[in-house]
Amino acid sequence: MAETLKVVVTGAAGQIAYSLLFSVAKGDVFGKDQNCCKSCPLFLLDIVATDDPMVAFKDADAAFMVGAMPRREGMERKDLLKANVKIFKAQGQAMDQVSKKNVKVIVVGNPANTNACILSKYAPSIPKANFTCMTRLDQNRAQAQIAAKLGVGNDQVSNVIIWGNHSSTQFPDVAHASVTIQGKTVPVPEAVKDDSYLKNEFIKTVQQRGAAVIKARKLSSAMSAAKAACDHMRDWFCGTGDKWVSMGVISDGSYGIREGLMYSYPVRIQDKTWSIVQGLTINEFAREKMDATAAELSEELDAAMAECEA
Ligand code: NAD
Ligand code: LMR
Repeated sequence: MAETLKVVVTGAAGQIAYSLLFSVAKGDVFGKDQNCCKSCPLFLLDIVATDDPMVAFKDADAAFMVGAMPRREGMERKDLLKANVKIFKAQGQAMDQVSKKNVKVIVVGNPANTNACILSKYAPSIPKANFTCMTRLDQNRAQAQIAAKLGVGNDQVSNVIIWGNHSSTQFPDVAHASVTIQGKTVPVPEAVKDDSYLKNEFIKTVQQRGAAVIKARKLSSAMSAAKAACDHMRDWFCGTGDKWVSMGVISDGSYGIREGLMYSYPVRIQDKTWSIVQGLTINEFAREKMDATAAELSEELDAAMAECEA
């Protein structure tokens, strides 16, 4: 039996957590020989329900930061900044004092990238690499679009990248992706054979998918978001092997992105440590899109800092 993990799920009474808690509890994320404390039965030893961050984050090994207001129809995710950013300031301050220094954190609550940045800023004793935000939902959506277009299963499509913000400026990029069709692996652009689709409709569909879900459901995505959060944390704990996954991580300046932004990059994960995939060729089309989403993140971060300091 592996060691016992303490897993925190904030917003545990909300719609995403309704699906997330069950998956964590049944071993989909940390493995079936892993005990968890702070979540329900199955692989759980104990559950603690609390609204005190000093209790919730005490000795945490992993944290799913879901608790935040969701957007409604007609809003952009950054419109949630004012309502949500202070939640992450307070939770960062608590984590700084009581969580393990190797706690692994995924921020799901929107605007996810900027909230993750704020969380990290207010928890300076915890390495910045331990704070990430979720763009796996966008990656899963992008993979699904390509798979549907080519009539293959989602798992036949790999190395789709989401660059930047989890927002309508994100850049879903298939220039380096591949697909396996009838046993043969080929680059996605070669298989799709429709550059205009990949540069227009495909990108827009993925960028707008969250809004389309809200329009249809009058509520934002829930089960798919929970699934993506599980995918993200499972890969972080268990590794990615040869494939890449997209995660919002703190920028070290890679690919010319401002250092300190929480920017979604392709990463590989080994021994619970992520590293940005380096050396990819960036053409002019990609450069423009990567810079546009970085510019939005810069603005969001400046606005969030002003809000926190007000
Ligand atoms: P929800 O309203 O159903 O649940 C949110 C829960 O958070 C509520 O139970 C609320 O009481 C709780 N909460 C509010 N303030 C809190 C605080 N200070 N501390 C702890 N809990 C608090 O919302 P949801 O549909 O579960 O969505 C949660 C967040 O996730 C939203 O911000 C949504 O926009 C975001 N989201 C992100 C992604 C992504 O891909 N990054 C995907 C889907 C949703
Ligand atoms: C999503 O992408 O489904 C979530 O971020 C919810 C939203 O506001 O779009």
